[in-house]
Amino acid sequence: MSPRPFPAAPFPAGRPRRLRSSAAVRRLVAETRLHPAELVLPVFVREGIDAPVPISAMPGVVQHTLDSLLDEARRCVDAGLGGIMVFGVPEAKDARGSGADDPDGILNLALARLVEDVGEDLVVMSDLCLDEFTDHGHCGVLAPDGTVDNDATLDRYASMALAQAAVGTPVLGLSGMMDGQVGYVRAALDAAGHTDTAILAYAAKYTSGLYGPFREAVQSSLVGDRATYQQDPANGREALRELEADIAEGADLVMVKPAGPHLDVIAAAAAVSPVPVVAYQISGEYSQIEAAAERGWVDRERVMMESLIGIRRAGAQVVLTYFALEAAALL
Ligand code: PBG
Repeated sequence: MSPRPFPAAPFPAGRPRRLRSSAAVRRLVAETRLHPAELVLPVFVREGIDAPVPISAMPGVVQHTLDSLLDEARRCVDAGLGGIMVFGVPEAKDARGSGADDPDGILNLALARLVEDVGEDLVVMSDLCLDEFTDHGHCGVLAPDGTVDNDATLDRYASMALAQAAVGTPVLGLSGMMDGQVGYVRAALDAAGHTDTAILAYAAKYTSGLYGPFREAVQSSLVGDRATYQQDPANGREALRELEADIAEGADLVMVKPAGPHLDVIAAAAAVSPVPVVAYQISGEYSQIEAAAERGWVDRERVMMESLIGIRRAGAQVVLTYFALEAAALL
């Protein structure tokens, strides 16, 4: 906030409650608003199922079939959402995540159909990461000593990027947190002529217990955590370093994730970023609200909207949330 030229009028002349006295005046002076166009719905599409499968740790969220995914995307269009972020759940996983860049793999098939069917009305975004496709559950390929091999992983990401761009995906979400991933993928895209494909860089992606429900959603076989590549929640300055690097490497949008525990990082990013700042309200943030509401401990709709307005107020211009369709219906 900028310094004020005049001190606020002291009590009793200054009565902030005047501007809270009716719904109409509160609406007039609201500093932050939510709009469906700023919301993006993350979705899961699973290979080899013929009906949607509920995700028990995320009430109301399912693994889609290709057909039910298309129906969901049309609901997103009707609700005026800004975009849809697609995660693929393959039938078979292996050490290098072969399903990820297979043109006939579930993620690329889903992206192709979405781009064709709703691409005019909705920004189709891909998750660009290996963890849904690897049998060890890590976001990259492993070195012989079991660590995640940064530079070998970049080749896999570039291959994924080419497959996703080939079907017309306009925005690729690089979520793997390998060093240099944005520049490497940008160069691969440009060399193949995909100069118009945009990169959403998960710049500050913190290692988090709140990814728990997502592990069920993508049937992850991960043992342990991602602390050697995702950021330590203790660090804020480091997020700015990641942000600067990603922007220098050509990121078109940058993301902070999870959102709720890192609102200060969203605010710090928004203060300096020349590109749009996106925040991801992740699976565990969603499930916490769902679980408390299910017990009758909190009012679901209120807490949902409060969580989203808080993320917007912190400075995120776009919010990925599993509540996107419901929130849009309330706006
Ligand atoms: C990586 C990725 C993850 C999420 C989005 N992209 C998993 C992870 O990093 O562990 C998590 C999203 C969520 O929890 O809602 N492919």
